[in-house]
Amino acid sequence: MSRKLFIAGNWKMNTTRSGAIELARAVAVEVGSQDQVDVAVCPPLVYLADVGAAIAGSRVALGAQNAYFENEGAFTGEVSIRMLQDVGCRYVILGHSERRHLLGESDEIVNRKVLKALSDGIDVILCVGELLEQREAGQTMDVVQRQVRIGLEGVSQTVMAKVTIAYEPVWAIGTGRVATPAQAQEVHAAIRELVGKLYGAQTAAATRIQYGGSVKASNAAELLAQEDIDGALVGGASLKATEFAGIVRAGM
Ligand code: PGA
Repeated sequence: MSRKLFIAGNWKMNTTRSGAIELARAVAVEVGSQDQVDVAVCPPLVYLADVGAAIAGSRVALGAQNAYFENEGAFTGEVSIRMLQDVGCRYVILGHSERRHLLGESDEIVNRKVLKALSDGIDVILCVGELLEQREAGQTMDVVQRQVRIGLEGVSQTVMAKVTIAYEPVWAIGTGRVATPAQAQEVHAAIRELVGKLYGAQTAAATRIQYGGSVKASNAAELLAQEDIDGALVGGASLKATEFAGIVRAGM
């Protein structure tokens, strides 16, 4: 089964309002009318509506970087899935390593968010990935498989079409130290095998697994050429429209 590549830009806590609008417009122009690759941008929450307006009518979709698992109420500082949908989000990133390791999100919290997002009908990008010391201790597969297994606990096969998994080795994020295509492929294949065990061969063959961690235009092609790499979750390089577009083109 051929999977359509999916390139998403995670802007993290960057840009200004005017800069976000400018970047979004430039990405929409660069991406143009191609539909070989799915493309999304994930700006900071406060700029979602403005960025949504800037990309309206284009082939670029809107995503958020996080959400909470309740609809509303006394949860100071949090934002619900429904609020994200209300401003036009199609995707939400959940379980990003910066949220896991800087902000203390556990696998169980990530799982509650995943379940809520899917029951509300938004598409999920579930991030997983090992720390450097875990890789060096030979624990990569254990860590990643646990994150996938717990992250997806209770998710039914019928909604797996709305799930993208992003494998992001933490040591490669924002460091310029990209995983080799072989290192990434090895983990992607293991994730796909696990999805097969959990949901069957057809779902495993259809599930998109993005690579993330220092992806840029110059290294994207060899990563995207790997059999089990179905796109990229891009941080730093998504903040420049031409660089981001270069990654999209590498997938065409
Ligand atoms: P990076 O970030 O491309 O800047 O390494 C990737 C990510 O954290 O999603």
